[in-house]
Amino acid sequence: MKNYKVAVLVGSLRKESYNLKLAKSLILLAPKSLELELIPIGALPFYNEDAEATPPESWTAFRKQLSQADAVLFLTPEYNRSVPAVLKNAIDVGSRPYGKSVWSGKPGGVISASIGGISGFGANHHLRQSLVFVNVPTMAQPEAYIGGVAELFDAKGKLINESTQGFLSKWLLAFEKWVATNAVA
Ligand code: FNR
Repeated sequence: MKNYKVAVLVGSLRKESYNLKLAKSLILLAPKSLELELIPIGALPFYNEDAEATPPESWTAFRKQLSQADAVLFLTPEYNRSVPAVLKNAIDVGSRPYGKSVWSGKPGGVISASIGGISGFGANHHLRQSLVFVNVPTMAQPEAYIGGVAELFDAKGKLINESTQGFLSKWLLAFEKWVATNAVA
């Protein structure tokens, strides 16, 4: 099977973010054909169309990194039942200038995680709403809502919950097929 570069975006800037820990676990669990790479989004200035005349270097670098990816994977917490601003900002930055969106046609996946039981459902689906508009064909099933996420790791940040490991491994195999089927040749 061909290899695919997957840009991984995490919607939390916390050093000890559970979503970041999940992203790092996914990197370890991923099948060989998926090359997962964390793309930082925390230093992107808020999107302002006026800045397109001389775009910040960080926007240009981010757009370049994304344009080189075959697929995108989002790990998101839920902030007040929606997508954290930092992740929405990254989507907005990547979507412009008009007609030059870096997202269009790249297959995507969404995993939400929360310390609570609703598991980031609201953020997961608000994110999907934006992904429809930027034309990221996003895997529908299996859905991935990781609840009680604070209980899943050891003190070093290693994913130790076997059922979650098993679920994420199966999810990754489905995502591998999704990417292979939908990636732009
Ligand atoms: C939260 N949290 C939260 N959790 C949830 O399940 N639904 C929610 O709407 C919210 N809202 C919310 C708003 C803000 C501003 C913060 C800081 C937090 C709790 C959230 O799930 C928890 O902080 C996670 O640990 C955040 O993910 P990371 O940073 O660990 O990846």
